[in-house]
Amino acid sequence: MIHCFSGMGNSAAVANRLELKLPPNYPAEIWVFPVYSWGIPPVVVKHIEQLDLSGLVCHMVCTCGDDTGNIDRQWRSLIESRGGEAGSIFSVRMPNTYVCLPFMDVDSKEVAERKLREAAEKVDRIAEIIKSGEIVVDIKRGAFPGFKSGVIYPQFFRHGMKARKFHFTSACRACGKCISLCPNHNITAGQDGRPQWGDNCAFCLRCYHVCTAHAVAYGSQTKKKSQYLHPDFQWLIKKFENL
Ligand SMILES: Cc1cc2nc3c(=O)[nH]c(=O)nc-3n(C[C@H](O)[C@H](O)[C@H](O)COP(=O)(O)O)c2cc1C
Repeated sequence: MIHCFSGMGNSAAVANRLELKLPPNYPAEIWVFPVYSWGIPPVVVKHIEQLDLSGLVCHMVCTCGDDTGNIDRQWRSLIESRGGEAGSIFSVRMPNTYVCLPFMDVDSKEVAERKLREAAEKVDRIAEIIKSGEIVVDIKRGAFPGFKSGVIYPQFFRHGMKARKFHFTSACRACGKCISLCPNHNITAGQDGRPQWGDNCAFCLRCYHVCTAHAVAYGSQTKKKSQYLHPDFQWLIKKFENL
């Protein structure tokens, strides 16, 4: 069973390829999701906290723009707290989607295409390892993993990301795309049909990246930033309805 959470389709693409490479109904529990601030997205944590995983080996495949920090430690303690056993843990580098800090933007077309090519090869290797039954930890921790996962991650959602910082600009055409595609159903239409953000934000940034008028903004940070969607976003997101 593959459980997937995905904002712009990167993790859904990995989930899809894994599904194709594993035999039908392969008996493995695999979670696929993006790395958020060197940790597991809160929406995935909440989902797993509601499960009884007794007797299950739980594999994790995360996608990241660059690196994961010590996400494996968080995975281990989360899975064990639900009675499960942490299995193999992998990261796959994919095009970056985080644009809410001054020095961060999406990747160039060339870098994004290269990452997608290399990711496909890595997912094929991951499928082989899972089939072999071997337990492997293969993640790109990056520099200062303890600081990133232990200090920045817990602060990021408490003080860093704030749903109230999302707003629309004068370019908004009230098309409703951000509203209908929000994975948490956290965006509603105001009287003029334009979006209003609630408090149940997954911080996936899908509302920002799907807006064809580039009218969704996060504070002033996204003013000169670009957008990214996985090339197969449309059907991948329908296939892997979030968690
Ligand atoms: C809120 C947020 C935080 C992120 N934090 C990290 C990070 O700590 N390290 C990293 O390499 N990529 C980070 N990224 C990039 C995503 O993990 C990466 O682009 C991922 O493949 C997106 O997958 P998706 O399309 O399935 O959502 C972050 C993205 C978002 C939206």
